[in-house]
Amino acid sequence: MWVNKLLFELCRLSDSLEGEDAFHQRRVCYIAYNIAKELDFDEFGLDLVVKSALLHDIGILTDESKVEMFRNIIYEDYESLNGHAVISGRVARFLNMHLDVTLAINLHHTPHENNTSIIGNILFLADNVEIAYRSLTNPYAYDDLVEFLEQKKLFDPNMFEALKNIARKECFWFSLLEDHIDDAVCEILDRLPKEEVDDKLKNAVVYLISYMSDSIVPFYDKYTLFVKNISVNLGYKLGLDTKVLHNAALLSHIGNLKIPYDTFKMPSLDEETYNVVKSHTFEGYHILKRMGFEKEAELVLLHHENNTKEGYPCKVKPEKEAAALALATIVAAIMQDRPYRVARSDDKIREGLKNFKDIDLFDSEVIDAMLEIDLEKVRKTEDEYYTAVKKLFI
Ligand SMILES: [Fe+2]
Ligand SMILES: [Fe+2]
Ligand SMILES: [Fe+2]
Repeated sequence: MWVNKLLFELCRLSDSLEGEDAFHQRRVCYIAYNIAKELDFDEFGLDLVVKSALLHDIGILTDESKVEMFRNIIYEDYESLNGHAVISGRVARFLNMHLDVTLAINLHHTPHENNTSIIGNILFLADNVEIAYRSLTNPYAYDDLVEFLEQKKLFDPNMFEALKNIARKECFWFSLLEDHIDDAVCEILDRLPKEEVDDKLKNAVVYLISYMSDSIVPFYDKYTLFVKNISVNLGYKLGLDTKVLHNAALLSHIGNLKIPYDTFKMPSLDEETYNVVKSHTFEGYHILKRMGFEKEAELVLLHHENNTKEGYPCKVKPEKEAAALALATIVAAIMQDRPYRVARSDDKIREGLKNFKDIDLFDSEVIDAMLEIDLEKVRKTEDEYYTAVKKLFI
């Protein structure tokens, strides 16, 4: 897996939080890249522009009210928009991006006269173009769009000239259409350097996703962190691949980021909504495959399966590793309050585990290993990376 492709998948994920048909960051990426190209940026500069654009609004990911504000954006209210810009900049830094990327993201809502970043100025212009573009009733009325933005007098004059040159070309606007924007951005990524994702970036992405998927569900306080603590313990006891279990547990609920926020606020679920919730396994599988987490994807797909073949979504008997993750998922959930029940005591959990063994719900070795784990320790285990991600969003 290469870095820009991984960032593109993160971008798709955060775009989708705004709604099924939202392509904001991908469009901003395409627009920003073309402005930079028109300004004769070299490959290194173009790469920084693309990275900045793909991540520029990632800070809205964990906060529904921010996503709501984003949907009904009042563009002249730059002050209030700076909050998510700073958070997105911090996230970019956590992902070990170049300092120019962080600075550009921090300043992506700052008009030209106060904007000290060249890439920040490009993002500011591209962001405004995208917002104006999506409010067009006729997607081909681009002359009106350029005129409307020009009257604002908020942009770097050279950059605006570059935009005008690009805006003359129909193919530029055709690329922004829903059917073409992903291909258009992928074509750009293909032209840029393909750096391999290193372990540091991989780890940062895993923790970022873990924190995001916990934040999106109101009652998931550190849920995937608990799943991880249990899974890794089980992995050591059973001689399984603890690294894969560690990542798979933290990534286990990435699919929740594709489910509408309101679903998790419902006190009870009807059949239709329950089917939507179940889809987090399948959604997670495909997102992780695209991100290059092959082994983790397989486990995440099966984290609600059991030996009765009545789990979901594949109705198969899980092998040991998948069974460890599946059992960790259940135990971590019953350790916490849910809107429809209170948390179970540790004694009750042990009783339940013995019952699981009687009915052969999971491999008996996995259940025996689970019975040896001190749940109080699981609750208390701190994780410096998780804490670090949490701080980014304060
Ligand atoms: Fe923004
Ligand atoms: Fe934006
Ligand atoms: Fe799940």
